[in-house]
Amino acid sequence: MKAFIHHNYGPADVLRLSEVAKPEPAANELQIKVHAFSLNPEEMHMMHGMFAVRPITGFRRPKVLCLKADIAGVVEAIGDAVSDFKIGDKVMGRANKGGQAQFTCVPQDRLVHKPEALSFEQAAALPLAGVTALQAVTKNGNVHKGMRVLINGASGGIGTYAVQLAKHFDGEVTAVCSGKNIDLVTQLGADHAIDYHTGDFTRTRRSNELIIDLVGNRSLSDMRSCLSKNGKCLMVGFSTPASMFRALIGGPLSSNFSTQKVGVMMASFDKADLQTVADLAATGDLEATIDKAYPFEMTPKAMHHLATVRAKGKIVVRLDAGSE
Ligand SMILES: NC(=O)c1ccc[n+]([C@@H]2O[C@H](COP(=O)([O-])OP(=O)(O)OC[C@H]3O[C@@H](n4cnc5c(N)ncnc54)[C@H](OP(=O)(O)O)[C@@H]3O)[C@@H](O)[C@H]2O)c1
Repeated sequence: MKAFIHHNYGPADVLRLSEVAKPEPAANELQIKVHAFSLNPEEMHMMHGMFAVRPITGFRRPKVLCLKADIAGVVEAIGDAVSDFKIGDKVMGRANKGGQAQFTCVPQDRLVHKPEALSFEQAAALPLAGVTALQAVTKNGNVHKGMRVLINGASGGIGTYAVQLAKHFDGEVTAVCSGKNIDLVTQLGADHAIDYHTGDFTRTRRSNELIIDLVGNRSLSDMRSCLSKNGKCLMVGFSTPASMFRALIGGPLSSNFSTQKVGVMMASFDKADLQTVADLAATGDLEATIDKAYPFEMTPKAMHHLATVRAKGKIVVRLDAGSE
């Protein structure tokens, strides 16, 4: 089978389309013929060998050659312990390794059935970004009727889902993005939109009860200045490793002396949450915004696109066009 692999860290040019052995499923795994996959910043950081990930991915060279991806496809084979799926099922989920390939093996607890109403491309666009947005809006953010929610980075992969989900749970949503994406976030349901080139969301006079920060380009005190007295700021994305370490240490420390809570949110990929995301997508309550779907051979181009940090929603790669 064909897969994109990398023997060295670096920008997307390190990815090589290669002939490799088809992976065999372990007892709890499914072998899936991948019809589409989508990309997340996590796999980009692994490709670059960002220093914070090297203890996991390998210090000098990548230990796992084929990167992660969110995938959608059809079950080709199953391990002995698999109970929830059968051969021929259409599935979606997150491949923790070997995702950027024609076939991949994924544990059953990282997969759900693909809703019939969704194309493979739409299904592949959902897993990590959808689950992260759901966990920010529900478990961590507790969005409820009338809650004033600000989403910084609203037009990206997670942001486009977070806007819809915060509206689904009746929040009053302010979306922060560049001017060219104001129409998009408004169509997704945002009540207010701020173009970060011409406006500063931190000057919204302590009005936000919840901030979901997907960009991480502002100081903790900037964030506090636009939070309500008992407000909460979930720091999900970071512009630099330094901003992440500042938030990891400074967030909990400063929250000890304040009624405002500022802290890092780490999503944990969860099958129940993936099912909720799939169900919401099946009923049309959550829609994937797909910036561009690239053919498989153009995976490095798709990674370059992701690296611009300008994606409008998700970037998808399709392997079998027209095979819904
Ligand atoms: N904590 C966790 O568990 C977790 C899980 C998954 C991902 N993440 C992190 O979450 C972050 C967001 O992920 P993603 O998949 O949504 O990324 P993404 O799709 O690559 O984000 C792209 C978006 O970022 C927006 N953006 C760039 N600079 C901005 C700025 N200064 N202000 C506002 N928006 C800006 C862009 O909008 P414009 O083009 O309009 O500028 C673009 O739409 C990443 O850092 C990722 O690593 C964290």
